[in-house]
Amino acid sequence: MEFALDTIRTVAGELPAEAAVECRRFPGGLESSRVGEVTVRFCDRHGRPRLLRTVLKELDGWMVREASIYRNLATKYARELSPQLLGVMHPEPGKVFLCIEAIRRAKAWPWQDVELAGDLLRWLARFHLEAKQAHIAVPCWDFEARLEEMAYLTQAAVAGCRKDPDLQPLARSLPAIRRLILQQKRLREQLCGEAPFGEGPIHGDVHSGNVLIRHRQSRLSPILLDWGRARVGSPIEDISSWLQSLGCYEWEAKRRHDKLLCDYLSEIGQERKITSSLRAAYWVAGARNALAGALLHFICAVKDEKRNKRERAEAFRAAQNWTRVILRADAYSRA
Ligand SMILES: Nc1ncnc2c1ncn2[C@@H]1O[C@H](COP(=O)(O)OP(=O)(O)OP(=O)(O)O)[C@@H](O)[C@H]1O
Ligand SMILES: [Mg+2]
Repeated sequence: MEFALDTIRTVAGELPAEAAVECRRFPGGLESSRVGEVTVRFCDRHGRPRLLRTVLKELDGWMVREASIYRNLATKYARELSPQLLGVMHPEPGKVFLCIEAIRRAKAWPWQDVELAGDLLRWLARFHLEAKQAHIAVPCWDFEARLEEMAYLTQAAVAGCRKDPDLQPLARSLPAIRRLILQQKRLREQLCGEAPFGEGPIHGDVHSGNVLIRHRQSRLSPILLDWGRARVGSPIEDISSWLQSLGCYEWEAKRRHDKLLCDYLSEIGQERKITSSLRAAYWVAGARNALAGALLHFICAVKDEKRNKRERAEAFRAAQNWTRVILRADAYSRA
């Protein structure tokens, strides 16, 4: 907290002693860090009321890599797409605090407007291209080991669904999950060999919880948060993660799925054509996202008794969507 105030001071100058400080913690996800908002209200020397806001994110363990990703990747190659990093503090070994520009959302849920989803894809395309051309070193992280670990946890959770009559439909994907886990290495090679995408720096966690829409220069523009899982991978992983996560909630995004994918292709200078090999890579990328945590997240949400009936039904539909992605990837990988 003191660190957030110090950062605010470096951005805005000295704060008066009577400044009112308010902290609000944001709800977290499956393996969340602690993220919250610090708001300071005060009167400046002309007596005018002022409000300054910043976001504080506490990281530990493997998640501390997000600090160098912000510095070396996001703020350089996704300047328009990521919030500004205002400060970094290392209070003790293995712990980091990030002070990040607070983004004011233009709308709580803007994704009925599919054009905005397309805007995000176009920004992502530019980020993928520029970061790849720059040949920068992304802080290393053994994502494949993490994926394997999460995939086994997902497999166990899906196996557990067999005992629950309401969740049984999800268990249909169990044999496919087993096969995909055994083939991860080959599938990754196939995915990263898909021309012209190849491999390069990707965000690695593009879903509706990590994208906000804000007003900027009298336009609506997307902002991508949460860079902690950025890594070297296939850009198709970001595309698939975005389109599939949005499709869980928005029918229109599902209906215009191929158009959105073609918009990405246009942005990287390719023909607007989805070849069968791109389609296969797309589902394989989707299954990797499903097994890296997306499916497990929604299975946990369905079982979470603190959530209301509507939220749990929504989580069930999303889990079903991810199991369908897995079944498709499995069918392509066996073809
Ligand atoms: N700069 C920001 N401006 C506004 N809101 C933010 C900002 N950073 C984070 N948030 C809010 O806090 C939430 C959690 O932040 P973030 O995704 O960075 O953390 P996380 O610990 O990785 O969370 P999760 O595991 O849930 O993805 C976001 O979904 C968003 O609602
Ligand atoms: Mg997040």
